This record gives sequence, C-alpha cells and structure tokens, in this order.
Amino acid sequence: MQRIGLLTSGGDAPGMNAAIRAVVRKGIYHGLEVTGIMRGLAGFIDGDMQPMNIGSVADIIHRGGTILRTARSDAFTTREGRAMASENVERFRLQGLVVIGGDGSFEAARVFHEEYGLPVVGIPATIDNDIAGTEACIGFDTAVNNVVDAITKIRDTATSHERTFIVEVMGRNSGFIALQAGLAGGAESILIPELPYSVDDVCQRLMRGYRRGKLHSLIVVAEGVGSGIDIGKEIKARTGFDTKVTILGHIQRGGTPTAVDCILGSRFGAKAVELLMDGKKKVAIGLVSGNLVQWNLGNTNIKPREIDMEVYRLAGILSI
Ligand code: F6P
Repeated sequence: MQRIGLLTSGGDAPGMNAAIRAVVRKGIYHGLEVTGIMRGLAGFIDGDMQPMNIGSVADIIHRGGTILRTARSDAFTTREGRAMASENVERFRLQGLVVIGGDGSFEAARVFHEEYGLPVVGIPATIDNDIAGTEACIGFDTAVNNVVDAITKIRDTATSHERTFIVEVMGRNSGFIALQAGLAGGAESILIPELPYSVDDVCQRLMRGYRRGKLHSLIVVAEGVGSGIDIGKEIKARTGFDTKVTILGHIQRGGTPTAVDCILGSRFGAKAVELLMDGKKKVAIGLVSGNLVQWNLGNTNIKPREIDMEVYRLAGILSI
C-alpha cells in the first residue's frame, strides 16, 4: 500500500478535521502518499483531488466542519457516476480509500468496493450517532453539548416568563441527540422517533409539574418525530400554557469540536490507516466499551443503532 485517498461525505460533523489530520499524519508517518478528495463523493467523480502533506492539516484539529468540504452526491448512486470515480482511482493511482461519514457514505463505499475492488475503510462521523457498529460517531458529543448549551439558555427565559418550551433537535430518523441532550439538560419530556408517544402523557406531565409549582417546562423533540411547531400548538391548545418553539437547526453541527470528538477523530483516523495497511478490504471502525473495533461493511451490517432504553427510562424517572 503506497497511496490512499481520503474524503468526507454527507453532513459535516465536528471532529472530522481531527480525523483528516490523523489519516494524513499517520499515513505519512508510515510512508504513504495521501490524496485529499474535495466535496466528498461529488469530488471523487469530478477528480477534484489533491495531494496532502503534514502542513496541509496544520491548525485544523480544533476547527468545526471539514477542510475537505462535503456533499450529498446523487450522481454516485448511479453506475455512470461510480464509473467516473473509478477512472480517478486509476488517474491518481489510489490503492485504498478512507471514507469519513455516515451510513449513506458507508453504503456508497461498500458498493464501490464490490464493483471496483478498491479497499475501503469507513470512519463513522455523523451528529446523528445512528450507526449500529459503533457506540460513538464523530460529531455527536459536540452536537449534544451544543444542544445542552442552548437548552440552558432557553431555561433562563422559560423560567422568567413561566413558559413551556419545545426544543426541536436534529437526528434525522434517530433520537440519540434528543435523548442524551434531554437527559443532560433535564427536559420534562423527550420525544424520539424510535418510541411511540402521546401528547396526553406529555400534557399530564406538564400539569403535574405546574401543580407542584414548576415555573417552566422543556420538551425536547427529535425532528424525526414530526414538527415541533405542530406539537407546540397541540400542547398549547390542550393545556392553555404559554408555549414557545425553538428549532435549533444547523447550529447543532457547528463550532469547535469537544475534546471527546477530537480524540475520537484522532483515534479513528489513525486506525483507518492501520487497517488499510493490514490489507483490510471493506471494513468500518467502531468504538465499543472504549475500545476500537472493526466491522465488516456488509450490506446487512450497515443499519441503524438501537436506542438505549435504560437511558430513556432514566430520563423519564428523573424529570417527574
Ligand atoms: O445527518 C446529519 C443531519 O444534520 C441530520 O440530523 C439532519 O436531518 C440532516 O443532516 C440535515 O441535512 P442538511 O444539512 O443537508 O439539511
């Protein structure tokens, strides 16, 4: 193995830069040439690629986003698109590829390997934290901290005005951000797409809190559940409480990565290089009980991670 490619794909996640830095520096440490592919799979198709050196990843470990930029590429889901990318594999003489991204990016890497044989290693990076093969994805910890920070600020104004706040958070079809941030932020109710909910229950919890003198209430709603605005209207109609809705949106994905994400990115990045050098063909990295693991990127392995019911129940008990 002499030359590897590296790209970030899908939604950006804080800590991706730490992973890029680790792949480049660990690769160079072992005498590899590392080619950075810009704009994810879109740049792979276009040949928007350039050699990276130690200096090209200087001063990036603490920066959010991704210096390689990213994209969601429809073209790569087509045979024609992947054929164009394979021409760039030849042109840049790549012998392996590191894909930093979420489940969609992993699926693209799996298909590309099966069609063209290029060894691929996936590094899980998505604020959604919804990949079954790992307990932690790069970016999740920062996103949760961003949400808790926002909840803490909202709590001040919620208390002052004696209001109920709905905070809608990201996560696509998963509720990990909502659950962890709701627990850490002391939310009264947490609504996630993995589990059924009833507005009646939510309202009863609110009324119970009100009767024992609570000045405010916070309800965290994962975007996969539905519109926070609609849920807010329904709660207001049923309880008569002054109810406001905040949709946090892309602010959750930005900012300086936490130390946890910088460390995770560094460990995942270095491990990816080792796996390619060990001759692995189609694997992804994971973190399980604090240890780095590898798992096969088979078509049935790339699946959503299940929610931790113990954490969910605990959040319910503590927010009575
Ligand atoms: O997958 C990460 C994520 O931030 C999801 O939580 C969210 O639903 C989606 O990306 C938003 O995508 P975009 O940035 O393309 O609007």
